[in-house]
Amino acid sequence: MSKKIKRIGVMTSGGDSPGMNAAIRAITRACAYYHTECIGFYQGFQGMIDDKCCELNARSVRNIINRGGTILQSARSKEFLSKEGREKAAKVLKKHEIDIMILIGGDGTFRGGLVLSNEHNIPVIGVPGTIDNDIYGTQYTIGYDTALNTVVNAIDKIRDTASSHNRLFFVEVMGRDAGFIALNSGIGAGAEEILIPEENLGLDRLLNSLERSRRSGKTSSIVVVSEGDKIGKNVFELAEYVKENLPYYDAKVTVLGHIQRGGSPTCFDRVLASRLCVKAVELALDGKKNLMVGMENNRIESCDLASALEDKPVINKELLRISDILST
Ligand code: F6P
Repeated sequence: MSKKIKRIGVMTSGGDSPGMNAAIRAITRACAYYHTECIGFYQGFQGMIDDKCCELNARSVRNIINRGGTILQSARSKEFLSKEGREKAAKVLKKHEIDIMILIGGDGTFRGGLVLSNEHNIPVIGVPGTIDNDIYGTQYTIGYDTALNTVVNAIDKIRDTASSHNRLFFVEVMGRDAGFIALNSGIGAGAEEILIPEENLGLDRLLNSLERSRRSGKTSSIVVVSEGDKIGKNVFELAEYVKENLPYYDAKVTVLGHIQRGGSPTCFDRVLASRLCVKAVELALDGKKNLMVGMENNRIESCDLASALEDKPVINKELLRISDILST
């Protein structure tokens, strides 16, 4: 029989994402509901190493469901990458008698959690929280929907000025190596072209498409460029190249950057975080370990954490075709 779970640890790690607070709240409240203690670690793995933690109770997470960022803060700990760092972290967890850790973050967080689990026999459960939506085993990650809405709002504003000045705008969005944010925000904002790392369309195609747009009577255009896109060294080089080849275009670049990670989470992200985290606590109390919770077809499921790391979610390239048709 598995050991009774009395104390659950929680942390947020890697790039923060809107909805992480809703996730912390849901874990804390589910623990309170099931009469289980909940300990929050600050700044991800670094907080474990430095023994920075606090007890969380139902009231300490009041009024945070609507807040962006994470009250536990986040970090990308270099120290945790070393064996010594992980030993320190494990010692701290044992000192606090943590039975299982719930890790809210992306693939880097989950990789770290699995190493900790293998080396020190500390069970973990992963909750996917990243704006990139690049985690296998869930259709949506916490924060992705909010980031999409932030990007669409920003591009709507850029469109106003683009059309007032007959300009071409290259808008760079986040996503690391994944094009989910670019593809979906691009369609949502009615972009003329969307460049993603999963599909290298090449420069010639881009030039032809912009040329066609101009000939068809378009006076301004928006090209959404995922930060991981492989055409050119970066979005600035790409814009320069287009300017050289299509000199009649007044081309500008906007890098949306970290604005995409902030802000109040959308209702979708709050509900997603709430559902995933209640499930995470219930799995933990059930003696399950080294799993990741995710949402598939609107059902909350779980899968092996290691297998979630072996694959990457596949982007729906049909959306590129839709975008092509609609930018006629
Ligand atoms: O993983 C989330 C993310 O925002 C990526 O989209 C981006 O590439 C990266 O984090 C930026 O990380 P940092 O805030 O550490 O520069």
